[in-house]
Amino acid sequence: MNEHENNVPVTEPERQQYFIQKTSAILQSLENELGRKLTCHIATFGCPMNARDSEKLLGVLKEIGYEETEDETGADLVVMNTCTVRDNANQRIYGRIGVLKSFRKSNPHMRIALCGCMMQEESVIEKIKKSYPYVDLIFGTHNIYKLAELLYTMLSEDRQDIEILDHADRIVEQMPVSRKYFYKSGVNIMFGCDNFCSYCIVPYVRGRERSREPGDILSEIRTLAASGVIEIMLLGQNVNSYGKGCSDRISFAQLLQKASQIDGIERIRFMTSHPKDLSDELITVMKENDKICKHLHLPVQSGSSRILKLMNRRYDKEQYLDLALKIRDEIPDIAITTDIIVGFPTETEEDVNETLDVIEKVRFDNAFTFIYSKRTGTPASTMDGQVEEYFVKEQFARVLSLVQETSKKQTERFLGRCVPVLVEEVNEQDPSLLTGRMEQNLVVHFPGDPSLIGKILPVQLMECRGFYFYGKITRA
Ligand code: 5AD
Ligand code: SF4
Repeated sequence: MNEHENNVPVTEPERQQYFIQKTSAILQSLENELGRKLTCHIATFGCPMNARDSEKLLGVLKEIGYEETEDETGADLVVMNTCTVRDNANQRIYGRIGVLKSFRKSNPHMRIALCGCMMQEESVIEKIKKSYPYVDLIFGTHNIYKLAELLYTMLSEDRQDIEILDHADRIVEQMPVSRKYFYKSGVNIMFGCDNFCSYCIVPYVRGRERSREPGDILSEIRTLAASGVIEIMLLGQNVNSYGKGCSDRISFAQLLQKASQIDGIERIRFMTSHPKDLSDELITVMKENDKICKHLHLPVQSGSSRILKLMNRRYDKEQYLDLALKIRDEIPDIAITTDIIVGFPTETEEDVNETLDVIEKVRFDNAFTFIYSKRTGTPASTMDGQVEEYFVKEQFARVLSLVQETSKKQTERFLGRCVPVLVEEVNEQDPSLLTGRMEQNLVVHFPGDPSLIGKILPVQLMECRGFYFYGKITRA
């Protein structure tokens, strides 16, 4: 960019609107030259937070004039929005960048951009510079709102451009968004994380916890509702501590109440909850407010108090059990799901037995089970007692098998009931079926017409297949 241009706005989002126009003009002339539209493809890895970021990236790209394509290797702009929570995520991403090399060579207009959590790691940037020099643009988690400006520099200067900020300087509101689903949407309520669980890289790559102002969140939800969204998912690494630092301070439970009063919003989900911050007020609101889905994702990570202490989770086994069982008592139909890590440094068979005990007592409706992955820079990565792979695999199998058995039983408890289901899509395997979700986040397949997508309908649960149901619409 010409540094002497003096009409470049300094405030956001005006500045990015300016660069959207400028980049759009470059794209226009390329389109004229080529006699076709330019296409973009965003590949998203990781959690719902990343999925929401990708919708924001796509919103900007569409305003610039790119057309979205499913064809990653044929696109003129490929954006990989990366995850680094476990090392296997990183390996998959390197594999995908490698595949793009020959396509980048054969299409002179192809550009490759990498962003997201993995890019906040110095060692990754070094490796990409060295081994993947054909990558055109790299940015991190704190400057995704600057996509238009970064693209402008990349396209006008035609060189590798890397911009990683080590912390977030602001939350930029009012940027364009292109949603994947017309009937549901994620809504960020906070960014970053201050918990510093000893295994976790998130606080280092997503930065300090920052909450959005309630007014901004509620006005975004009103706009979503006005455009036909009926289900929202409030997103944050630790939603139970929502509100810190806001000028208008309200609790997470109060935010849920306010969101549920918005016309058109019929279902509200949220993730992720940290057990140490979950309030009685939240339990009451979940119990009494029908719009809040009866589903709580409450990561336990381990059932061993000794391991939980080393993980810096700030609760022990008994406290977790008390909390989960209190919630089960108060809200009998609730689905409680969790995350479990197996193979944390020094973990023994006895520690895993404690985890199995928690699974049995809480009767998790579903659990994501992960093998511990050493993340450079985290306290756990330098702990003594890193556990042998063969032992971890054995323990992992024990945990997985109990999780599967438990969640099958839990799912079966709904068999025969007639429940409200949000119709989400045509079934991928059988196009005569639709696929939807119960408020407990359980999947149901049933015959129906695609015109029903986006509606909440009563469905009779006729057959349970482990973790999902077959059913039929019972006509409201
Ligand atoms: N190794 C394995 N699993 C991890 N998670 C986070 N960090 C690690 C790690 N280093 C899991 C936790 C978290 C979920 C999103 O990913 O269970 O809740
Ligand atoms: Fe992955 Fe965590 Fe980043 Fe989500 S926040 S994309 S889980 S590293």
